[in-house]
Amino acid sequence: MKKTNDKTKSDYIPALRFHWLTSFYDSVLRWTMRESTFKNQLIKQVQSYPGQRILDLGCGTGTLTVQLKQSYPESEVTGLDIDPDVLRMAEAKAAQRHLSIKFDQGNSYELPYPDHSFDRVVTSLMFHHLTTTNKLQTLKEIFRVLKPEGELHIADWGKAKNGIMRIAYYSIQILDGFSTTTDNVKGLLPGFALKAGFNTMNETKQYATLYGSLSLYKAKKCS
Ligand SMILES: C[S@@+](CC[C@H](N)C(=O)[O-])C[C@H]1O[C@@H](n2cnc3c(N)ncnc32)[C@H](O)[C@@H]1O
Repeated sequence: MKKTNDKTKSDYIPALRFHWLTSFYDSVLRWTMRESTFKNQLIKQVQSYPGQRILDLGCGTGTLTVQLKQSYPESEVTGLDIDPDVLRMAEAKAAQRHLSIKFDQGNSYELPYPDHSFDRVVTSLMFHHLTTTNKLQTLKEIFRVLKPEGELHIADWGKAKNGIMRIAYYSIQILDGFSTTTDNVKGLLPGFALKAGFNTMNETKQYATLYGSLSLYKAKKCS
């Protein structure tokens, strides 16, 4: 694991809000979040070609990172997360499956990569952990590290489809905090992407889950 960040444990929201809950993260996602349904769809949407470079931003325990490498074995896959504890779990997952994946510790809004490094940036369930300022800065950083014609693919909480989904989302807001989660349910992510330099960001799919409406988005860096 390459370390490029000195944030302390209180500077970010861990996978399940509290560090002591991290070991339960995979089970919670698998059994309560339709994880395989939305992650498989996200992977399909990514459509990477041999030789391309993919970044899984806020990769957590590496479930999606591993699936990306298995789906696109000829692409170079990197996972980045701010939390060294989840990165150790991600590394173990990749090693068990004999997959060559690079994992870096770093911060989404100060990415440790040069301009034009990646063909695809994929990120799942990380944006609702960031303040508005950090969401915008993260999107600017993604825009910077993407190559021209590169694509951003996001899975995260989106605008609630109906009242039931809005009420369900309070569970996420109570867990992760209102200050980082409200932009999502107001449907503000696509507008933030435009401010960061993307021409458009489209919602490609929406899922009803126990915790609210989950959206997939796609944006392209036009040259
Ligand atoms: C809910 S988890 C999602 C993990 C994984 N992407 C998934 O879909 O299962 C959110 C992850 O974002 C990471 N994270 C939060 N703030 C971050 C930041 N500023 N930079 C990078 N990662 C961050 C957390 O450490 C956590 O692993």
